[in-house]
Amino acid sequence: MMKDNVVKQHIRYSWLIYALMAMLSVTFMSCMRGKPSEKPPIHLNPNMDDQARYDAMEASPFFADGREMRLPPEGTVARDDFHENDAFFYGKDDKGNFVKRIPVAVTEALMQRGQERYNIYCAPCHSRAGDGNGIVPKRGFLKPPSFHQQNIVDYPDGKIFDIISNGIRNMPAYRKQIFNVNDRWAIVAYVRALQRTQNAKLADIPADKVNQLK
Ligand code: HEC
Repeated sequence: MMKDNVVKQHIRYSWLIYALMAMLSVTFMSCMRGKPSEKPPIHLNPNMDDQARYDAMEASPFFADGREMRLPPEGTVARDDFHENDAFFYGKDDKGNFVKRIPVAVTEALMQRGQERYNIYCAPCHSRAGDGNGIVPKRGFLKPPSFHQQNIVDYPDGKIFDIISNGIRNMPAYRKQIFNVNDRWAIVAYVRALQRTQNAKLADIPADKVNQLK
């Protein structure tokens, strides 16, 4: 008797199981038909893939003025990138004209530094003598003009500084390589010295040194 009951029950349940399997397979098949969905995909292990953060210039409801980037507190003074001295940083005066003279003290140390920097950064094209016959133009680059030609001798110091900083026509800018502003002025001082090595007049030589030439 007991056995009979068990078999009957088994038959009843097996019918249920077959029905369930049929339903499940229908569900799976419809899932696999790849319907496009507006919803984000299911992300089983989110780790820290999505985090709350702001991009630059984004709006934020958190602050009363609606901007996410905050302004520096009133009275803040910039310390490193404060380029207010136009003569020193740009070689220009208040009206935007090139300064005539180097705005730093021209010392022996500045000259030495200028010579060293010039020989590194300028001489490959302009040559150590400044005549434009450097090794780079010899290999095919455009030949630069000689620093000893009159129009360049007549340039204000600020213009030479500007040419080093921003380049001119075919000459690239060197402010990134010669990042130190003082170094650029040192080079200007040295270019001026180079120019004075040519076409010097006897009157340019201090009186007490003239004898040494004879
Ligand atoms: C890669 C080669 C190259 C290097 C390095 C270079 N120059 Fe020049 N420079 C040129 C060329 C080429 C010209 C001519 C540009 C033109 O007229 O198209 C020029 C022109 C000039 C002029 C004259 C601009 C004018 O108005 O005619 C000055 C001054 C000058 N360079 C200074 C410098 C100084 C100072 C350095 C070093 C910091 C330097 N250059 C480094 C290639 C170079």
